[in-house]
Amino acid sequence: MSLDGRTVLITGAAGGIGTATARRLAREGARLVLTDVPGSSVEKLAAELGQVALTADVTRAADVARLVDEPYRRWGRLDVLFNNAGVVRVQPLLDVTESEWDRVLAVNLKAVFFVMQAVARRMREQPIMPGSELRGKLIQTASIAAYRGGNPLMTPYSASKAGVVSLTRSAAQEFARDRITSNCVCPGAVDTPMWQQIDREWGALEGWGEGDAWKRRIRNIPLGRPETADDVAGVVAFLAGPDSDYMTGQALKVDGGLVMGD
Ligand SMILES: NC(=O)c1ccc[n+]([C@@H]2O[C@H](COP(=O)([O-])OP(=O)(O)OC[C@H]3O[C@@H](n4cnc5c(N)ncnc54)[C@H](O)[C@@H]3O)[C@@H](O)[C@H]2O)c1
Repeated sequence: MSLDGRTVLITGAAGGIGTATARRLAREGARLVLTDVPGSSVEKLAAELGQVALTADVTRAADVARLVDEPYRRWGRLDVLFNNAGVVRVQPLLDVTESEWDRVLAVNLKAVFFVMQAVARRMREQPIMPGSELRGKLIQTASIAAYRGGNPLMTPYSASKAGVVSLTRSAAQEFARDRITSNCVCPGAVDTPMWQQIDREWGALEGWGEGDAWKRRIRNIPLGRPETADDVAGVVAFLAGPDSDYMTGQALKVDGGLVMGD
């Protein structure tokens, strides 16, 4: 098992991509702290996988301190952060209010930064990972929304994800000397609760029925099928494991070919 004993913290673990990744990494032998908001199914998932659950809101500084502390309290180290929690809202650019902007950016960009910062502070003080030349790995979830030249129905979301690519690269430069890598995944259109929300909100704006927005979105995927959360989980497992140790500052598109090039 390539992740045998590796300790991993996953935010947004109760969601589609977080859950698929938790299952995949657990299968590969990792020890996991799974976090999501109170009221989510994160405790059920952790119990099923025999892993640790922690409810936390990543936009609250006290919660971030608590969740980053957990792997250090239990295991004395954190090898991999999967900084994945996110929210979306489909709405025309001119309807975006300040509070809606703040809500999306608070989770998708500000919290991603402060979780990463809190983890990096601890990671750079820990010894090198067993059997590796690295001290730890930071992995963010961005999106192809960062690349599509913007999306006027998801303006705050797209801006937040472009920001995630940027802070992934700042961290890669800052922490290379500490032997900590930082990379992100950019999923395409993944069949998760988030896309069910997009389908509802986009469909309501256009007067479409349930599932119509999804069908339009997946129609032109070069690889010819919609993306599953497992498609993303496999790439996160690669980034969490030893085969990606010489990669840092990269944004990996996992989208069936929707966006090719930069
Ligand atoms: N589904 C897609 O097509 C797609 C495409 C590109 C990128 N992404 C990104 O992938 C990540 C996971 O998305 P998903 O599709 O699994 O969506 P999802 O809605 O199924 O999961 C997101 C999870 O984040 C959690 N979360 C939200 N706010 C939080 C907070 N304040 N504190 C802690 N947890 C919080 C939610 O409770 C949820 O469980 C997100 O960052 C999303 O933007 C998704």
